[in-house]
Amino acid sequence: MRLRSSAGEAKQRSETTVAAPPVKTILVAGGGVMGSGIALVCALGGKKVRVLDIDAAALERARRAIEQKWRFMTEMALARGDSDRLVEDIAFFPAEAIEAAAEGVDLCFEALPDSLVLKREVIGRLNTAMAPRAPIATNSGNLLVDEIVASMADPTRVLCAHWINPPHVMPPVEVCPGTHTSADAVEMTMRCLRDVGKRPMLLRRDVPGRIANRLHFAMLNEAIKLIDEDIADADDIDTVARYTFIMRGALFGPLGALDVYGGKESSLKILDYLYEATGNPVYAATAVHRARAEVEKTSGRDASRWRSGELPDRQTCDRQVAALMKFLKANEAVGHGTQDSN
Ligand SMILES: NC(=O)c1ccc[n+]([C@@H]2O[C@H](COP(=O)([O-])OP(=O)(O)OC[C@H]3O[C@@H](n4cnc5c(N)ncnc54)[C@H](O)[C@@H]3O)[C@@H](O)[C@H]2O)c1
Repeated sequence: MRLRSSAGEAKQRSETTVAAPPVKTILVAGGGVMGSGIALVCALGGKKVRVLDIDAAALERARRAIEQKWRFMTEMALARGDSDRLVEDIAFFPAEAIEAAAEGVDLCFEALPDSLVLKREVIGRLNTAMAPRAPIATNSGNLLVDEIVASMADPTRVLCAHWINPPHVMPPVEVCPGTHTSADAVEMTMRCLRDVGKRPMLLRRDVPGRIANRLHFAMLNEAIKLIDEDIADADDIDTVARYTFIMRGALFGPLGALDVYGGKESSLKILDYLYEATGNPVYAATAVHRARAEVEKTSGRDASRWRSGELPDRQTCDRQVAALMKFLKANEAVGHGTQDSN
């Protein structure tokens, strides 16, 4: 390991993005669970990578984590290459050398612990030390970009790039601009993520939970409430979820699955019934859903689709669902799932 210790809104995003330069050198601030995976992805994607962490011991843990994740990737045939060289090429900097770490960097992925005070302090220092325009993308799960940049001299380069754990495996990264983030910063971050093989999803604005946590935790809480209300056991709840909407959702997403398998009007009826019966605001149907149901009634299912992209025809979808079902059942046979009664 080489240890380096030497040293607004739409109007604000309206500037041109054509000139946004490509990202060559990336700083990953925080080499823990997320940062080590992010660093690996960037190194595998051909970027020059630097990792910043507290001290030599933390950096050694980060280096080992990167190697371990790299071995996992090669075992799973998700990566190829020479691990020694890959890790040798990563430069490691302790926190005291933050200015040296930031020099000449084109983009920073920040993966520090989720503390507002710490993120403000470190991002504030990076903001001064990094070249103008180089984006700083926070991975924070619970802090919004606008909270982090409050009272920061230049908030235009700060945005959120929310990687999903494990970051070296999961394809999507949620990219969320704050109120003041520039179009350049967004474009450079999106391009860099695509370069390293990720699927960046651009949200129109930064909101609590973004997409993944908002959907995931709404469902998770409902599952836990079923236990709390003594309706069913966890194994049975998981079996119903895995072999129904999660299985279809894994292939087509919840909205795509509704386009393929369900009607807008019938789903609306179920929501209205659940809302009336439970009073739970999670089930309160939206105006946009009612409007789609109306389009379905007057112009048919195709006209009322949520998804604009191509979805396979129903027969192909059924085949894919059956193939996934076989995979899940095969996993149960080796003890990785709950046993259903069929
Ligand atoms: N773990 C997850 O599942 C997950 C998923 C998505 C997003 N996130 C977000 O990613 C961020 C990082 O989470 P994590 O789970 O990787 O945390 P972690 O605790 O595993 O890693 C944080 C790293 O930052 C280092 N660090 C602390 N202070 C530092 C400083 N002053 N300078 C440099 N490095 C410092 C720590 O030593 C540690 O290695 C958080 O904002 C979290 O909300 C986490």
